[in-house]
Amino acid sequence: MTLVIGNWKMHGTHHKIVAFLAQLSPAPAGITPVLCFPFPYLTLASQLLPHGYSLGAQDLSCYDQGAYTGQVSAAMLKDCGVHYVLIGHCEHRDARDTIEKKIDQAMRYGLEPIVCFEKKSQILQFSAPCTLAYEPAVGADSLPEDLSAQILDLLELCKKPLLYGGSVNTDTLKNLCPLPISGLLVGRASLEASSWCQLLETLAGAKRTPGHFFH
Ligand code: PGA
Repeated sequence: MTLVIGNWKMHGTHHKIVAFLAQLSPAPAGITPVLCFPFPYLTLASQLLPHGYSLGAQDLSCYDQGAYTGQVSAAMLKDCGVHYVLIGHCEHRDARDTIEKKIDQAMRYGLEPIVCFEKKSQILQFSAPCTLAYEPAVGADSLPEDLSAQILDLLELCKKPLLYGGSVNTDTLKNLCPLPISGLLVGRASLEASSWCQLLETLAGAKRTPGHFFH
């Protein structure tokens, strides 16, 4: 099963999300697409997701409940139909112990944590069973030159399912398909139904072609 996580970040409106979801087809075989919309639209999206899709959230609180203005708990996400949650995205800059508490919180409530990291040195911090998403800091629209070697090195070290994120689109996909990764974390290319569906279809085609290494 290949996970393709669409991270909408702080984009979208009620109208745009309804229109986007109406244009999607059921998930291609062997691929689990996950859409992470902003918190206010999660319940709406959970009612409109196509067959084979899952719902994700972009963050969660490390607390159960209480006086934490602006935070959203794991229980609330479960209530909204969420299955996956991004943790430690570089746009949050959470401290290491906060990330650990969030992973723990997600697992206690039956959410699947997708833990993002930018540097190899960070992965030894994550002992809990979780999926990791490698998002190295490289220029926009480019992939690291020695990505294949980096991925093999990371897999050897972490022994966990590994996703790749950062400038993933139908153009960069040809360089990502041969890698032994478990899926993708997609930002910009997830925002329009055309680019998102094209990405899923291209990936599904590549998975049927001998020689790809996607799990
Ligand atoms: P991008 O974002 O695909 O727009 O580079 C990915 C992410 O930061 O989650």
